[in-house]
Order: sequence, then C-alpha cells, then structure tokens
Amino acid sequence: MIKLENVTKRYASNDALNNLSLTIKSGELFVLVGPSGSGKTTLLKMINRLNEPTIGNVTIDSADVKSFDIRHLRQNIGYVLQAGALFPNMTVAQNAAIQLETLGWDRQKRDQRVAELLDRVGLRATLFMNRMPSELSGGEAQRVGIVRALAAEPNIVLMDEPFSALDPISKRQLQDLVIQLHRELATTFVFVTHDMSEAIKLADRLAVIHNGTLQQVGVPNEILAKPANAFVATFFDENDTQNIFLNQVVKAGFGQPSTEVGQVLKGTDTIFDWAAQLKTTPDLVIKVEQTTLRPVDLINYLASLEQEAK
Ligand SMILES: Nc1ncnc2c1ncn2[C@@H]1O[C@H](COP(=O)(O)OP(=O)(O)OP(=O)(O)O)[C@@H](O)[C@H]1O
Ligand SMILES: [Mg+2]
Repeated sequence: MIKLENVTKRYASNDALNNLSLTIKSGELFVLVGPSGSGKTTLLKMINRLNEPTIGNVTIDSADVKSFDIRHLRQNIGYVLQAGALFPNMTVAQNAAIQLETLGWDRQKRDQRVAELLDRVGLRATLFMNRMPSELSGGEAQRVGIVRALAAEPNIVLMDEPFSALDPISKRQLQDLVIQLHRELATTFVFVTHDMSEAIKLADRLAVIHNGTLQQVGVPNEILAKPANAFVATFFDENDTQNIFLNQVVKAGFGQPSTEVGQVLKGTDTIFDWAAQLKTTPDLVIKVEQTTLRPVDLINYLASLEQEAK
C-alpha cells in the first residue's frame, strides 16, 4: 500500500501539491489524471523519492520512504517515462537490462530475462535484442521501456504519460498490453495521464487532480456517473476522447431496454472492443448494464457523431 498523507510541495512561486492525501492499494492499477501542470509528475516522483514533500509523508507498506536505502527503494520500483527515455548508444538488450546489471546479474541471465520479457510485450527477442533505439518505432521503444521497468520484478511500476506521443492505434495496443501485464503480475501500477479516456479505460481506481489538489477518487464507473464537481465533469467532456465508452453510447439513447441476454460487456469497455467482437461475430448482440445493443446501434452512433461534427 502506498500512502500520501497531507502532502504539500512548495516552490518559490507556487504550490505544486497542496495538502494532498491518497491511498493506493497493493496490486491495483491506479491512474492519476489531470491537466498539464496539475502536479501529476510531482506526485509520482515522491513515490520513488525523485522528489520530496515540503510537508507531509509518503509511506510504502507503512514504512516512510525516507527510511529506505534509496538504491534499494528504486530497485523495487520500475519507472516508465514518455518517449525518448532509451539511451541512444546502447542496444535494446543493454537498455532493457540496465537495472539487472546494477543488481549484478551475469550476462547470460540478463539476456534470458530480457528475451523472455521482449517476447511477452510482443517484440520477437531474436529480432529486437541487438537493435539500436534509432531503429525502433515509437510504440516499440515504449515496449522496451516497459521491459526495462519490469525486468527486476519490482513491486511497484510508475508510468508517467508513457503513450502520450503515440498514434491512436499504437496507443490502444499498448493500453491493452498494460492491462494484460497488470492482470498477469501481482504488481502495483501507478499510471499518469492527462487523457481522461485513457484513465477510464485502464484504471481499477483513478484520482483526478487539478492545481495540486485532489478532486475525486473512485472507480471509473462512479466518476463517469457522478463527477464530484464541475471541474471533473468538464474535464471529461472537453478531453479529446481516443476511446468512446459503451455507457456513452447508452447515455446517448441508443439500444433497447434489455429483454434478451446477449454477450455481456462493461460500460467502461470501448466501442473498439465492441467492433473487435463484431469482426468475428457480425450479428452479435451485446448487453451493457440494462441495455441491449445491436450492430446497427454502433453504425447509428457513429453516424450521429459525424452529424454533430458538421
Ligand atoms: N523544480 C520546479 N520548480 C518550480 N516549479 C516547479 C518545479 N517542478 C514543477 N514545478 C511546477 O509545479 C507544477 C506541477 O508540475 P508537474 O510537473 O507535477 O505537473 P504535471 O501534472 O506532471 O504536468 P504535465 O502533464 O505537463 O507533465 C507546475 O506548475 C510546474 O510548473
Ligand atoms: Mg508531468
């Protein structure tokens, strides 16, 4: 469990965080979302002590982070940054094994671990181990960043807007990968984004932050259904939505009150999840909460967006 208690971060001209308290449970995929400058990175860096609170405490499993040996602390915390965080003069394998090398793993064991993880994130190890970062696409580079963060089997993985520079398709693929990896590993993920739709898609729970203060914490459905204040409501509406959620389709009035049971999907699944299912079963009927949706509803919904845009 990661706990921030009454944390304030004060700079000469402003407070980056203002008396913020937050608990992240062990093993959850926790998302921190807010606009640029709201304090997300400041908060994230307090967990691995790249940043220290001016006032307040940060604890991991009840121990103050200040009480840990800093090297030991960081070895237990993986860190994935925005694009461009690989060393350009090192191969994929060397980049991915940096932490393992510090830990004293021998070359053969390092290569074995990195190869296994590269395969797991969808990069064929035999093809990618010896490539240089300049020979990777943005999405591939971020996959290597994820491998590097996971290599030493950390208890916590911090991700700071790791997909914000990617095209929509790569972004969706990597979001799915994060969900899948989180499901497979018993690891706490703390994921930072300014994109509310990304937050809704990924999060077990999410926290909305604005001007260094916490606006709302909850599960995605709760926040979608009951935004705590005007900021949360407009932040969601104004956000560029790369993902459209099934409960938005329902809210827009499409579908019928559920009479028959179709394939059950969640309100926080996206229309892309739906489309993927239709690809294999074109006449699929789905049930979202109390509503039945048919393929024609998807077409009508998309047509209504097009009309709105005109
Ligand atoms: N070293 C610093 N000195 C002074 N002010 C700082 C410093 N670091 C951050 N800030 C300020 O603190 C606030 C929060 O910054 P932070 O980087 O945490 O925001 P963020 O939510 O991560 O934004 P973004 O989405 O743009 O990455 C901003 O107003 C920023 O200008
Ligand atoms: Mg930031």
